[in-house]
This record gives sequence, structure tokens and C-alpha cells, in this order.
Amino acid sequence: MTQIKKICCIGAGYVGGPTMAVIAQKNPQIQVTVVDINEERIAAWNNADLSKLPIYEPGLDTVVAEARGRNLFFDTNVDKAIDEADMIFISVNTPTKTYGKGKGMAADLKYIELCARQIARVAKTDKIVVEKSTLPVRTAQAIKRILDQTGNGVSYQILSNPEFLAEGTAIQDLMNPDRVLIGGEESDTGREAIEALASVYGAWVPQERILRTNVWSSELSKLTANAFLAQRVSSINAISELCEASGADVNEVAKAIGMDSRIGSKFLKASVGFGGSCFQKDIFNLVYIAKTYGLDEVADYWEQVIIMNDFQKRRFAERIVTTLFNTVNDKKIAFLGWAFKKDTNDTRESAAIYVANDLMEEEAQIHVFDPKVTEQQMLTDLDYLNTRSSEANRKHLTVHQDPYTALENAHGIAVLTEWDEFKTYDWQRIYNKMQKPAFVFDGRNILDRKQLEQIGFEVYSIGAANIK
Ligand code: NAI
Repeated sequence: MTQIKKICCIGAGYVGGPTMAVIAQKNPQIQVTVVDINEERIAAWNNADLSKLPIYEPGLDTVVAEARGRNLFFDTNVDKAIDEADMIFISVNTPTKTYGKGKGMAADLKYIELCARQIARVAKTDKIVVEKSTLPVRTAQAIKRILDQTGNGVSYQILSNPEFLAEGTAIQDLMNPDRVLIGGEESDTGREAIEALASVYGAWVPQERILRTNVWSSELSKLTANAFLAQRVSSINAISELCEASGADVNEVAKAIGMDSRIGSKFLKASVGFGGSCFQKDIFNLVYIAKTYGLDEVADYWEQVIIMNDFQKRRFAERIVTTLFNTVNDKKIAFLGWAFKKDTNDTRESAAIYVANDLMEEEAQIHVFDPKVTEQQMLTDLDYLNTRSSEANRKHLTVHQDPYTALENAHGIAVLTEWDEFKTYDWQRIYNKMQKPAFVFDGRNILDRKQLEQIGFEVYSIGAANIK
């Protein structure tokens, strides 16, 4: 069996960084080099101060501390790392296309293709190339053609090894994965490549959790997994509106259906809507692929998950406006949270961005406190929407380092991220310093509603009988 001695990972992002850190920690005999063209990001990965790593993930600092400098390296020299490696992971971003054919739907594969061409140009020995990025089904075929036709005559095996970690629990998920999926070519050399990668994971993952499939099943399973997960959120969110209209309580409904073992209790929490870099882009990608094959009903079915999610975010913003007597003009609306979920500093596609944008359209003053997200990031997120000028965004957004100053004098508080610390705040103190009536819009259903109401707050929760 091929013994892997050196691994290169192209892309030091939310997936490449933590995944390679764990692979290196568990395989001290393998040299793992994570490379990126983003010099600032690599410098942050190499920062002696572990609190300055470019990604916040619980437990990541400990893993990096153990492996970095021993057999884990972060570098900007992509060519050198490719040249030396037996196995190359491609873990670059695959965003939704913002131009041309498939705009707003298809995955933009330009970064993947650039990687393939760079590998082809540099490699002088046989390589196993691993797709770690989430890719449309049949991308491996395109990568293989580029490698074979523009390369130096060396041979390549392409594997699909999608990543199922969730941000916020990445280290826990990597340490103890439900499964590791490896798709490869159905040939002797293909199977040998699969086993080489399986042995890397085998250092800590039990064999029965390492699934071997053909490449296309593996590529499609990642898109399907994300589509199913997002679909559960949109399904319970659709029911949340029905609960508000009918007097049912979505938490009770979720509990009641979740106890059915065929349904299961996970991913049934109603909220202001899902965010993150993956769910929306991967569903759009799936929809686009289905359309490409002429499968319009399949495409429409999955697109509805996104339509529902957009509606849920809009509905939340509208509810804030109608509750605040139909105007938020110049009113202070305080946001607790900007990250797309707790325990991460990632804000990509966060519901907070869209809710803030809608409220700014109504001329509200948004004041935000998030324990991990920087002011610069929030402004970049708003500017990216292109709804108004950067100056206008800066006029309507104030970022606070202290939650109590963010909440002082607010007309309404909106909880956008489920950070645990929000539950522990001194809500009596907050109430005393707010405008009255004091409204709380709990977009994550994390606060103790009864306690808040006893203090005097008027509380809107997702999917409950609410203030009208
Ligand atoms: P990211 O944007 O955090 O990181 C990607 C990195 O690749 C960036 O730092 C970028 O500078 C670098 N890069 C791009 N082109 C390059 C090139 N030619 N050479 C060297 N570096 C290059 O993205 P993230 O979140 O790590 O996602 C990567 C892939 O993993 C995507 O396909 C995503 O769908 C998938 N994925 C992401 C998950 C997540 O939770 N973020 C979970 C599972 C899969």
C-alpha cells in the first residue's frame, strides 16, 4: 500500500486549517504543509499568540500548539509544497458564481481549475489529488483532464473526500466524525489511492466509519447532505409561522416530532434562518446541476428551501418594524450577535447581515455586539450587498465592545446569534436602561421568555404565541 509521507493542502481556510491540524496531530510521521496565496492568513496561522489564529474554533489552538512546527507547517510557497507532496488536498473556496452563465446559482470553479493547472505545471512525481472542497458532481473528471493533458507525464489519482465538519464544532467533528467519505476510481490504482487516504484517517477513525464509494457518489453526497440539513431548518421554520398564526408552539412541535425515531431531534430548531458559507451555495449548486440535466421538478423542489429561508429572514425584520409601531426610522435597534452561528467568527451569509440591511432600508440605527466578529468584517458584509454606499452603511451601523453599551437606550433588541453568554446577561439592568415599551426579538429562541416578561419586556419569539 502507498505510504503517505508528505501532504500538501491548498487553501488555509475554515476547512483546510482545522482539518490539516487534526490530520497532523494524529499522524506525527506525516509532514503536513498547508499553503495559501493569502499571506496575511498564513502569517496569522503562524502567529506565536494562539488567540490570533485566523479562525476561531473551540479546541483548535490546542491542536495547533501540539503539531505546528513539528509536522504541521503553514506557508505561502505553493509550488514547493506541491512538488514535495505525495498527496495534495484541494481545499479552496468554491463560491456561487457572480457573473456569466449560471450567475447566482452554479459553483464558481475558477479557483479549483487554477489549482489543477498549478499542480499539473509543478508536479514531477505521481500524486494523489484529493478534492476536499465541495464540488459539483463530475468535477473530478475535469480535474483529471487538466492534469493529464497539461501535466508533465506523471500519473494522477483523483479522490473525492468531502468535509462534513460544522463550524463551531469543527475540532470535535474532526476528532469523532460520523463518517469519513472517500470516493475514488473503480480500478486497482483507484482502490490503492483510496486505501492510502483511508490509512491517514485510520490513525484515529474506526475503519467501519470510513466509507468507500465511487467518485460521483461521494461528490453528490456532500451536496445532498447539506441540502437535507438545510431542508430541515426551512421545514421547521415554515411550521414556525404556522405556529405563530395558530397558537401552537414550535418548540413543543419540534420536540413532539423529534421524538419519532424516523424523524430524529437534531436540526429542528426554528430560528431567524440559516446562514453560513455552505448551505445556500450548495443548494444553488444542486439546483443548477438538476436544471443542467433538465430535471426541473427536482430543481424547483430544492430551490424552495432557499426561498423559505430568505422569507424567514425578511419576516423577522418586518416583524421588528411592525411591532415598533410601524417605524424604526432613527430608532436604535440593538443586535446581539452577527456571526452566522455561535462559537465561530464566520459571518458568511449570516442572517444578521440581511436583517440589518432590511432595517437600514427603514432608516434604523443598528448597534451590534458580537463576542468574536470585528467591526471591519460587519462593514465588509454590508458593503458586499451593494444596497447603499459604504458611507451610508457606516452611518447606520455602530459596533460595540461591550454588550451593555450596545443595548443602552435601545428601542428593541434582536438576538441574531445563539451565543451562550447572551443568556447570562443582567436582563433587569438592560431593561432599566432601555426605551419603553422594551421589546426583545429572540431570533434564536435562547432567552428565558418568562423571566424577561416578568421583568417587563415584551418578547417576540420565533414560532410562539406573540405580542401582536
Ligand atoms: P475559505 O474561503 O475559508 O478558504 C479557502 C482558502 O483558499 C482561502 O484562504 C483562499 O485564499 C485559498 N485559495 C484560493 N485559491 C487558492 C490558490 N489557487 N492557491 C492557494 N490558496 C488558494 O473556504 P472554506 O470555508 O475553508 O471552504 C473551502 C471549501 O470547503 C469550500 O468548497 C466549501 O464549500 C467546503 N466546505 C466548507 C465548510 C465550512 O464549514 N466552511 C464545511 C465543509 C466543506
